[in-house]
Amino acid sequence: MAFPVQRPRRLRSTPALRRLVAETDLRPRHLVLPMFVKEGAAEPVPISSMPGVVQHSRDSLRKAAAEAVAAGVGGLMLFGVPEKHDATGSGAVDPDGILNVALRDVRAEVGDATVLMSDLCLDEFTDHGHCGVLDADGAVDNDATLEIYAAMGVAQAEAGAHVVAPSGMMDGQVGVIRAALDAAGHPDTGILAYTAKYSSAFYGPFREAVQSQLKGDRKTYQQDGANLREALRELALDLEEGADMVMVKPALPYLDVLRTVAETADVPVAAYQVSGEYAMLEAAAANGWIERDRAIHETLTSLRRAGADFLLTYWATEVAPRLD
Ligand code: PBG
Repeated sequence: MAFPVQRPRRLRSTPALRRLVAETDLRPRHLVLPMFVKEGAAEPVPISSMPGVVQHSRDSLRKAAAEAVAAGVGGLMLFGVPEKHDATGSGAVDPDGILNVALRDVRAEVGDATVLMSDLCLDEFTDHGHCGVLDADGAVDNDATLEIYAAMGVAQAEAGAHVVAPSGMMDGQVGVIRAALDAAGHPDTGILAYTAKYSSAFYGPFREAVQSQLKGDRKTYQQDGANLREALRELALDLEEGADMVMVKPALPYLDVLRTVAETADVPVAAYQVSGEYAMLEAAAANGWIERDRAIHETLTSLRRAGADFLLTYWATEVAPRLD
């Protein structure tokens, strides 16, 4: 009988050996916490399809931001849930709009101890729920939307965002926002571009989280899940327009896109583990069908292994203290 000479199992035989040879690490600094803040809320409001996640009041947002920072997270990403919506999403540009107010609150609370990021998109603010304004035929008007994004970026920088994150998938959004930030005296405010953002069923719970008004879909601006090459075209354009960092979203169903973008980009790459990925795992765990904490850790590790420098995850504050 010929016994094997090559024994890869040797390096798996103790926890210390496995730790020594691990190729991928997951640290608190790799995690960015997305947070929702609801205008007029006196108390945090639970989101039923995202157990454990809430729409914050202004007070609870500050507190949760401080907790996340204490846990060592790499950053925070804020989303606003306004009381009123209109055709142009004017609450997004208004310095007194909920997102801008919340950015000021959180920046006052945590200063430069973490990276404060802001979602830059109109869907939370429009009465039709699209990521841009509509033309006379009801189609999303790319260039009219860009003008509003530019003003929104400046408002967010002035409210204290270190980084703005355009997520609307309008053509030219990064370049227009960069120019507006520079012209308004904010050359150091960064842009994290949602570069490869796919039209996805996995955003379902997020729509509850922001009380989205959307009927229909976003297929004329978000990418088709059938396409990888197209993501590289989006990447080239975002880099040319001045993106400081780029993102792939959703995460787990698009690991091949993440790997390809990470191999191509010469800037940091993020992956967004979205609401549906969160809900799916929480639901299975609640039924006792999956080991929750191990499964969370495994998904996050897989995103790092696929090439993400940092991860947006609703589990950031929970997971960070467990990482050694
Ligand atoms: C758009 C935006 C969405 C998400 C982040 N930014 C929703 C969408 O594109 O429909 C989804 C995030 C998630 O599902 O966790 N502002």
